[in-house]
Amino acid sequence: MTKYVIRGGKPLHGEVEISGAKNAALAIIPAALLVDGVCRIENIPQISDVTMILQILQELGADVRTVNRTTVDIDCRHIQNSQVPQEMARKIRASYYLIGALLGRFGSAEVPPPGGCHLGDRPIDQHIKGFVAMGADVDVSGGFVRAKAKNGRLTGAQVYLDMVSVGATMNIMLAAALADGLTVIENAAKEPHIVDLANFLNSMGADIMGAGTDVIKVRGVQKLTGGTYSIIPDQIEAGTYMAAVAAAGGEVLIKNVIPKHLECITAKLEEMGVEVEEHDDSVRVRRTGRLSRANIKTLPYPGFPTDMQPQITVVLCLAEGTSVVTEGVWDNRYRYVDEIRRMGAHIQVDGKIAVIEGVDKLTGAAVQACDLRAGAAMVIAGLAAQGTTEVDCVHYIERGYEDIVRKLSGIGADIRVVVMPEEKKSVQAG
Ligand code: EPZ
Repeated sequence: MTKYVIRGGKPLHGEVEISGAKNAALAIIPAALLVDGVCRIENIPQISDVTMILQILQELGADVRTVNRTTVDIDCRHIQNSQVPQEMARKIRASYYLIGALLGRFGSAEVPPPGGCHLGDRPIDQHIKGFVAMGADVDVSGGFVRAKAKNGRLTGAQVYLDMVSVGATMNIMLAAALADGLTVIENAAKEPHIVDLANFLNSMGADIMGAGTDVIKVRGVQKLTGGTYSIIPDQIEAGTYMAAVAAAGGEVLIKNVIPKHLECITAKLEEMGVEVEEHDDSVRVRRTGRLSRANIKTLPYPGFPTDMQPQITVVLCLAEGTSVVTEGVWDNRYRYVDEIRRMGAHIQVDGKIAVIEGVDKLTGAAVQACDLRAGAAMVIAGLAAQGTTEVDCVHYIERGYEDIVRKLSGIGADIRVVVMPEEKKSVQAG
């Protein structure tokens, strides 16, 4: 087991470079299945979820060549089968994109239901609603999602999503790119990574309009040709480093960002007394005085991102006064609160609402990462706390944060990786 050991209480100073967006990469890489040619994808984040989705494509028969640390060439022309190995697909949430991509390419798909962080119920009924509307028969049984286009090829359809869903919006776009006719997705998600997937597909010859609005139109084409595409910077990684400076104090230049994608996070941090200076492709974040309280409700983009909820809640633990956080997307995204209470936080949770009484300081403790973003929040708490914090289960963090220990050390954090000897399995007597 690996853990991070953090000696907190030191303000952060220096510069940090943001990597490619995890939730864009996890949709764009499976999208290569639709392309009749070589896709060169640049600015790919070096994180374990991306490694896993690339391995799944290779398992399917794709030719994946590493060009450099953040660039791969993917050639899916020789893939024959549309069956995804169960043990790999269950490890990540984004494996569900394989259904839309394989269905769009082959007219059939057989994919295990996705894994991913435990945030409450995570159904895929809206994804299935879209596939069925486009003429697929879908059966979920025996540990697989099996989808088959009635006439061998999907047909365009009108799909009104019951709720705003990033995954369903992406998956229906993937299935519709090569379908016969026009697909209209209404009540579509508008996150930056939705736009990035649409831009990737269009750069390969697709015909998608309206991404970034709540109505996306996809006119199916006969084929997609290869090309080169660079993934956008990660909005949530950038927001996480902004929150780290807010909590620990100091001044950091966060480079390789798109400030527009950070507007909601910036506005909330400024409300809390943090200074944020926007430049073309960077933001300078400074916090010297006491933090002020704030209320936050997480919402689909352009609202405050749910994937920043644990991180901003930790910052609010150190703000003067009482703050209220309402989780507007997931049913159960406060599992980390018990961990942060070990460090002296005063938080009460009732369903989707957390009431935070600010404290003067947090104190270091042994805590666990219970999911990807909660793990990042524990690291932020450790950076701000007096004393030493040990964060366990860091594999969750490494699913979505490239080189987080190196990047934080580069801005003055006292953080190191400690590998624990594997616990000896007790031999059962008799
Ligand atoms: C994506 O998950 C992200 N994951 C999540 O980020 C993120 O929290 C979420 O979008 C919201 O922004 C990836 O992109 C791999 P949804 P996804 O479909 O697609 C309900 C991270 O930390 N819903 O937008 O699974 C669902 O239960 C991860 O990077 C249905 O009911 O989220 C939730 O309440 C964590 N039926 C809401 O909609 C469906 O068919 C939003 O889910 C689909 C969703």
